[in-house]
Amino acid sequence: MNKKEIIDILKAENTEGVLIKADTIRRKYCGNIVHLRALIEFSNFCKKQCVYCGINSKIKNVIRYRLSENEIIETAKKASELGFKTVVLQSGEDDFFGTKKMCSIIEKIKELNVALTLSLGEKTKEEYKAYKNSGADRYLLRIETTDEKLYKKMHPNADFKNRIKCLYNLKELGYETGSGILIGLPEQTVDSIADDILFFKKLNADMIGLGPLITHKETLLKNYPCGSFELALKALAITRILMPNINIPATTAMETLLKEGRKIALKSGANVVMPNITPEIAKENYSIYPNKQGINALDKIELENLKNEIISIGDTISNDYGTSKNFIAQKHL
Ligand code: 5AD
Repeated sequence: MNKKEIIDILKAENTEGVLIKADTIRRKYCGNIVHLRALIEFSNFCKKQCVYCGINSKIKNVIRYRLSENEIIETAKKASELGFKTVVLQSGEDDFFGTKKMCSIIEKIKELNVALTLSLGEKTKEEYKAYKNSGADRYLLRIETTDEKLYKKMHPNADFKNRIKCLYNLKELGYETGSGILIGLPEQTVDSIADDILFFKKLNADMIGLGPLITHKETLLKNYPCGSFELALKALAITRILMPNINIPATTAMETLLKEGRKIALKSGANVVMPNITPEIAKENYSIYPNKQGINALDKIELENLKNEIISIGDTISNDYGTSKNFIAQKHL
């Protein structure tokens, strides 16, 4: 698919065929298997000012929290006891957890025999290296948009080139590397979304997460409409068609915007779900956007319902680490 073909699909009204094709490709290359990841949002302190994000440093109306090292490890233990084979540690860009603290947390979580994904934002190559040496396996860092002008508007005091550099550093260090974008940023065009998708391919990302923007009333984007679910779904399906063996989550933003969003995404190329295992009091304040939905991993019924939903669309739940097939293929080169 070239850029023009991508744009045509992004603009098209009837894309049923593309969604079915993405589903077929996912099943052929990744199997009839869905991977579950336990997400721990361990700190909502953030030094960045991403204009769309409800926990950016400018937002005063949010209770800031940090889980203690012990709470993080206990939560990860719970995830492992519940059968999760991957733990995802996510936070705002919070310098409180310096390299030493982070490495100690990573080492303890790795004793639980789980794959560990980090999503902590932009760090130096040395920091990424230290995390890797402590046992971290994967890293998620969305580029958010590859349109440099738009990136600058959306991210005051941030450096687009550094973000790109971070992604290549992660790749170089041997991380299973994830990126992704927001769909529906103000002034974002389908042309730029096509560039984003081509960037995923150029980076040779192992995982891609994308979702619609959900506007937050405390942010500068409060008067903007939310992103389009359909457009996000088309972008997901095209990404799957172009990158058959990567991992793609049905993101929480997609299920927040549409009740059946998760199921639809899983039937259109996605093969991962990330239930949230953050302790309840903390979770409420990880308000990146309003009405954040998603599976509560600590609720047995919710988790059971998710498993039933996965079975209902012809999939089984993975019982391995769920390493991206794209990553495995590179290791064998
Ligand atoms: N709506 C949807 N997604 C958002 N994110 C941040 N703010 C919002 C929002 N208002 C996404 C970003 C970030 C990820 C953790 O959450 O893409 O990378």
